[in-house]
Amino acid sequence: MTVSERPVALITGAARGIGRGCAVALAKAGFNVLLNDRDGAEDIALLQSAARDIQALGGDAEIFACDVADLDLHCVLFAAALDKWGRLDVVMNNAGVSVKSRGDILDVEVDSYDYNLSVNTRAVFFLTQRAAKYMLAQGQIGDQHRAIINVTSCNVVALALNRGEYCVSKAASSMTTKLFSLRLAEEGIGVYEIQPGIIETEMTRPSKAKYDKLIAEGLVPMKRWGQPEDIAKYVVSMAEGQMPYSIGQAVLVDGGLTIPNF
Ligand code: NAI
Repeated sequence: MTVSERPVALITGAARGIGRGCAVALAKAGFNVLLNDRDGAEDIALLQSAARDIQALGGDAEIFACDVADLDLHCVLFAAALDKWGRLDVVMNNAGVSVKSRGDILDVEVDSYDYNLSVNTRAVFFLTQRAAKYMLAQGQIGDQHRAIINVTSCNVVALALNRGEYCVSKAASSMTTKLFSLRLAEEGIGVYEIQPGIIETEMTRPSKAKYDKLIAEGLVPMKRWGQPEDIAKYVVSMAEGQMPYSIGQAVLVDGGLTIPNF
């Protein structure tokens, strides 16, 4: 098998939003990218269009649709990158879901709790574990940094009582990030966390009018929505190893939303 000269990144939840923005940015930075999302018809069509966008920029992209909550599919997902390019340098755990319905934590139902934990926590833990094992076995290729990047949320630090199960799921993934960063510290594999604030994507679309008003009123000190491209700049830095001599860093990309002030 020929091993690609270009580094390879796998991005989950890459059909739209933050994942798609980061995939394009990584491709522009010289990575071949494997784009994953769910296997619904709309998701697949969006994955295909993202791959075409990247190819139009001169990049190399493949798609592999599967539900990351199905742990049995993780080995096939990895194989899609390895069969094509023979290496994997960056894994970005971005796929995530919100609560089934917002409401009092006293009313959270098992179904929504399990849904959040299965995607936002369990899938992230086991994809991180698989990435860690694979990267250890592969070793470093040339001077290419190896990185695992987990997208959690500013809700790791700021509580949302009407989305309790989401907060719990993301806080657990924050711990996953720290644990693996410690385990891999001496191996030179960086494990990082991004905690986005209010980012303009499909996930926040149902609350757009509410957030437009709150942002205009000063909820976010920078007084604007975050964009996937804001997150992508940090992801590219992390993927390239531009955070030397630090492990398990969590970067809040939230325009100041969570900074304590009065
Ligand atoms: P989005 O809803 O626009 O995109 C998420 C993508 O993940 C979708 O394409 C979806 O199909 C995919 N996905 C969901 N479950 C999946 C599964 N089981 N298997 C494979 N793919 C799956 O959301 P957005 O905003 O781009 O979110 C990306 C990440 O950022 C998520 O983890 C989210 O929790 C996190 N985040 C987003 C914030 C925001 O304001 N938009 C704020 C804080 C965190």
